[in-house]
Amino acid sequence: MTQYFPDFRPRRTRSQDWSRRLVREKTLTRDDLILSLIVHDGEDAPQPIPSMPGISRHSLKGAVEQAKIAADLGIPMISVFPHINPAKKDELGTEAFNPDGLIPQFIAEVKAKVPNIGVMCDVALDTYTSHGHDGLIDETGYMLNDETTEALVKQALAQAEAGVDVVGPSDMCDGRIGAIRQALEENDFINTKIMAYAAKYASGFYGPYRDAVGSKGALKGDKKTYQMDPLNSDEALIEVAMDIEEGADMLLVKPGLPYIDVLRRIKDEFKMPTFAFQVSGEYAMLEAAIANGWLDGERVRMEALQCFKRAGADGIITYWAIEAAKRLGA
Ligand code: PBG
Repeated sequence: MTQYFPDFRPRRTRSQDWSRRLVREKTLTRDDLILSLIVHDGEDAPQPIPSMPGISRHSLKGAVEQAKIAADLGIPMISVFPHINPAKKDELGTEAFNPDGLIPQFIAEVKAKVPNIGVMCDVALDTYTSHGHDGLIDETGYMLNDETTEALVKQALAQAEAGVDVVGPSDMCDGRIGAIRQALEENDFINTKIMAYAAKYASGFYGPYRDAVGSKGALKGDKKTYQMDPLNSDEALIEVAMDIEEGADMLLVKPGLPYIDVLRRIKDEFKMPTFAFQVSGEYAMLEAAIANGWLDGERVRMEALQCFKRAGADGIITYWAIEAAKRLGA
């Protein structure tokens, strides 16, 4: 198919607003948004996160209110992360399986008070361990695979018992999707969905999040022995194939924009529901430039989300979901 000027002028369809709308290939709607929400176990006041201007940690009560605002705006799901008191952290991350812990409490409250929104929770121990790793480590600091998987199964079951809709294992251990799926099936949680952090990279873009959940100072070493190398994308296809085989319902690529090519490859190859996580560092980067007057916030915030749709994402986890939903309208 060759299209020669001047018979073909791509600018024709760009020349008016109505024709631009008519030929638009993708749309971003409220249904594409997943609100990323951080809940703290302290008193009622929201705690602003300095490296994420505009974003706060919310108390249990405040986070439920945020979930209600999101639901009223038509946002289909929230993804929740805990900030727990450092006194509750230990080497084994045992607070992660406390059935009366912050996250199970939050799940139960949202499910009771805001029935029309899905609740997804992170499955990983980093917010619960004194060393800040996503699982159990040996004396050299290496994260153990099978022992971690066992702990994650317990964490996922604690969440399922509290009524979680979607578990999101974000640890990158081998075989954990299969183990979690099997445990869910055995315990009759047949409709609990798994969104596998299938391609999660060892990325510097998580910096502000580690501040936000209080795991930054704690982290010893890095996460390169479990999270993926930023230069690999063939490997992402193998990770995804394994997660699908093991029982994942939905796939996630993380970070988002810097790894958008990976998202496209995954969507093209597997045709599964595939999501992007616009992570804390992406948020911070945009907001810092906007605050300096270097970028026009009204344009770039939406553009960044639209790019995910163009690349094939079915939805986006973002800290900016409420603001985006307001701009998108019903
Ligand atoms: C932990 C986890 C991380 C994020 C979500 N879950 C950080 C990490 O892996 O170190 C990052 C989220 C963000 O940066 O917004 N398993």
